[in-house]
Formats: sequence, structure tokens, C-alpha cells
Amino acid sequence: MDEARAILSKEYDLKFTKAVEKETADIYEHVKDRIPEIEWQFYAPLIREINRLKREKDAVILAHNYQTPQIFHGVADFVGDSLQLAIEATKVQQQTIIQCGVHFMAETSKLLNPEKTVLIPDSRAGCSLASSITPEDVMAMRAQYPGVPVVTYVNTSAAVKAVTDICCTSSNALDIVEGLDSDTVMMIPDQYLAQNTAKKTKKKIITWAGACEVHETFTAKDIEELRQAYPTAKIIAHPECPTEVIDACDFSGSTSGMINWVKTERPANVVMVTECSMSDNVAAETPGVQFLKGCNICPHMKRINLENVLWSLHTGTEEVTVDPEIAEKARGAVERMINFGKDKQATKK
Ligand code: 13P
Ligand code: SF4
Repeated sequence: MDEARAILSKEYDLKFTKAVEKETADIYEHVKDRIPEIEWQFYAPLIREINRLKREKDAVILAHNYQTPQIFHGVADFVGDSLQLAIEATKVQQQTIIQCGVHFMAETSKLLNPEKTVLIPDSRAGCSLASSITPEDVMAMRAQYPGVPVVTYVNTSAAVKAVTDICCTSSNALDIVEGLDSDTVMMIPDQYLAQNTAKKTKKKIITWAGACEVHETFTAKDIEELRQAYPTAKIIAHPECPTEVIDACDFSGSTSGMINWVKTERPANVVMVTECSMSDNVAAETPGVQFLKGCNICPHMKRINLENVLWSLHTGTEEVTVDPEIAEKARGAVERMINFGKDKQATKK
């Protein structure tokens, strides 16, 4: 990115001038407790240029809740969990979508907008769940359990979605499993989301051995230690965590489910057992709530930064494409899911 930075510095005014400071003051007011002033001097000019250029290039920025505060609060047009972003992707007016998230999210946006340009600032932003399963694995499971429907987490490639019946996210997994006309359901590839869903339904759930590298490392002992360290704090977790962790917590939900819980419950102290940017992003919107650290960083989500977002807008790269035959089948699985959750809107920034 050094070369890119040099090119960007020639093309755009990336100095922290008084004018930039004034123009970005409202955004900084929002995040000043999370971003030190010294760092803001580097981010503010990039934020100003990104916001100007996205309008000029008819682009919209969809950002996941795990993106950094400078992206989430600085340049995103819509923020949300995986389901909300997928729904928002069906409604965008602009010709170009910049996906600030990981590759499967950009692919989902492309599936829903075959005629639009979908860009991801760094196509190496993968996901341990998406890389844990192939279409051949799914076909082998289908052969082993004939007639059993396959519910696929959106954290998968388009090719895997194409050989499944319906997608789900962490916010609608239970509804979708319950809505299927079958007592047995295959739920892939996240073993923990599947196990956590299985505890809430009478249906038999068959799963796959995939896991999120960010959430699978949390243990019940971690939660016990957090309880000892912060006796009055509420502890909430994402359902990609092992069942023993979810059982030990006060609440579990999708990333937006967790944000809404904090906004509604307003605990004095809270630990969000998930990706670290979540606390930073929600803290800006919940004064009076103290966020205590008990999080892990997702290295894939963190591949996206302001510099490569500006680079993406400047160069029109990296474009996400999906083979049309695969796309048509995968789109069906995503659209069937979206029809279960029409009420779940992303948040307009
Ligand atoms: P949700 O935002 O749908 O809860 O997903 C979490 C996640 O791990 C995305 O990578
Ligand atoms: Fe994948 Fe986990 Fe990172 Fe989400 S947090 S992108 S599930 S590795």
C-alpha cells in the first residue's frame, strides 16, 4: 500500500488542514473517545476525500458492524449485521457498491445486484467459516442425508450457497430452521451457530466442523474470569461462540442484536464477547455505558482501511464477480432467506 499511498497523496489533498478539521469536526465529536487526536489527523483527510469521491462516482458504502470506527462512523452510508447489509444491497440506487466487510459479504451484494459494480477494498478479506467448506463437501452431505434440507450460513462462498436450499445469518437462523418443513435440518458450516440453534429447537440439526476463528477461542473459563474481574458487568456474546460460552453469558445475538440490546438495556458496564470494533462503534452512540474489553480482532475485517477504500474508489478495484450460472442458484438461496426477514433494516448513517 506504500506505492498506493504515494499515488493517493499526489492525486488528493491528504493534509490535515484547518478546513479538513472543520469539515470533519462533527464526525470526530462522535468518535473522539475512541480515536486519539494524533490518529484523527491521519484519518480526517481520507474521510473527507472518500465522502467527496463516493458522491462523484455514484457509489454507496455498505459497512459491517465489525469495521473500524473511522469507517463505521466516518464514511459508511449504511451499517448493519450480515442480514441487514444483504437486505440493504437489494435497495441501493447507486451504480457502485463499496463493501467494507469480508469477501462473502461483497459476493452477496453482487448476487443481489448482478448489473451493478461491487468493489471490495481488499479481496484477501476472507473468513475462516467461508473457507471451511466446499460445494463438493455439501454434495457429499446431501448424499449421506438424502432429502434433508440444507441451511447455509451466509458466511460461505457463492459456490456453496448455490448447492444449498436456503441461507441464514445469526439473526434469523432459528426462524429459518423452524420455518422448514422437515424434522431434520443440515445447518452448515458453523458448528457453534448450529449447536446454539439446536438448543432452541426440537428439530434434529446436523452440522459441519467449521468455526469462526475469532469466536471459537472464547471459553467458559474466560467468562468466569470476566465475571470475577467485573462483578457488576453484563456479558453478551455472538452465537458463533461455543455453547458453553453462550450459556454463561447474559445475552446472545447477531452483531446488530447485541448493539440493540445495549441500546435498550443501557447497562452501566458491559463486555461484548465478539470482534473488538463492536464496542468502539456502539460506545459512540451509548453515552453512560462503559465498555470493558473481552474481545478478539478479526484479521480479515481489519484488512479494510480508509486508504484502501479511497484506493478502491480511485481505481475502481477490486471488482467482485460471480460466475452467472453459480450466481443464479446462489441468489435463490439468499433471496429465500431475505423473504424471512423483510423487517430487518440496516441503519442509515
Ligand atoms: P452478523 O453481523 O450477521 O452477526 O455476523 C457476524 C460475523 O461474523 C460476520 O462476519
Ligand atoms: Fe469470519 Fe469470524 Fe471474521 Fe466474521 S469474525 S469474518 S465469521 S472469521
